[in-house]
Amino acid sequence: MTTADATHESREAGGRYSSVSIGLHWTIAVLLITQVILGLRFEDMPRGPAKGEAFALHMSLGITILLLSLGRLLWRLTHPAPPLPDHYKTWERLLARATPVGFYLVMIGMPLTGWIMTSAGPRPYPELWGVLPWPKLPVGEALAAPSSGFHHRGPWIFWTLLALHVAGALKHQLLDRDGTLWRMLPLVPRGAPR
Ligand code: HEM
Ligand code: HEM
Repeated sequence: MTTADATHESREAGGRYSSVSIGLHWTIAVLLITQVILGLRFEDMPRGPAKGEAFALHMSLGITILLLSLGRLLWRLTHPAPPLPDHYKTWERLLARATPVGFYLVMIGMPLTGWIMTSAGPRPYPELWGVLPWPKLPVGEALAAPSSGFHHRGPWIFWTLLALHVAGALKHQLLDRDGTLWRMLPLVPRGAPR
């Protein structure tokens, strides 16, 4: 193998996210979009047993997203992302770094604020997915109002980030054709043409 071949191979191998990152990215993306839509519907339901069941689902899905997101953050901190392509302009680098930070804030902030704002309530939690008892956080009423403020604004932050993120992915894929989307796609063999 020539030196040029070896360099090419190592770029290919290092140019994509790991399978763990890709698996977590798409799992969390699907769960989070589902959860935001469910949350907006749940909010509008009249009080009653159906709302109780909707809360149990909202809470179970939310805590699952929290645990997956904490795992993902830990993985991300211990496994650096592949470097951004050299041709990215300064504003593209800034957006490419800032949007994921915003997403982590939503992925962790939304379930955490939901958990905090409901912990001061009088009723015990339903079991997580109907099987696992889930504790309330030892927080007082004082934190409930700011948490609720974040929880209600979260969807707008989320849709804005998602619009920016998808627009960026499509721009790089369709206009720049630089393989950015390929870095995060599952089931693409490593080294395959972009
Ligand atoms: C990724 C996690 C979560 C997301 C994306 C999310 C999203 C949402 C959304 C979009 C709403 C409607 C807000 C509005 O219309 O203003 C909502 C409401 C609500 N969420 Fe969450 N949520 C999450 C986790 C949780 C958790 C873990 C809990 C509780 C343990 C929770 C408790 C609630 C409650 C009680 C409401 C209704 C608030 C009210 O009626 O004033 N959420 N959520
Ligand atoms: C709820 C939906 C989504 C969330 C929360 C999300 C979150 C993220 C985060 C946090 C990263 C940075 C990876 C890291 O360093 O940890 C990332 C990267 C990426 N996402 Fe998403 N994403 C979502 C949906 C999408 C969609 C729909 C697409 C495709 C159209 C997409 C394409 C990508 C690509 C191509 C990258 C890699 C960018 C790069 O190499 O710099 N994502 N996403």
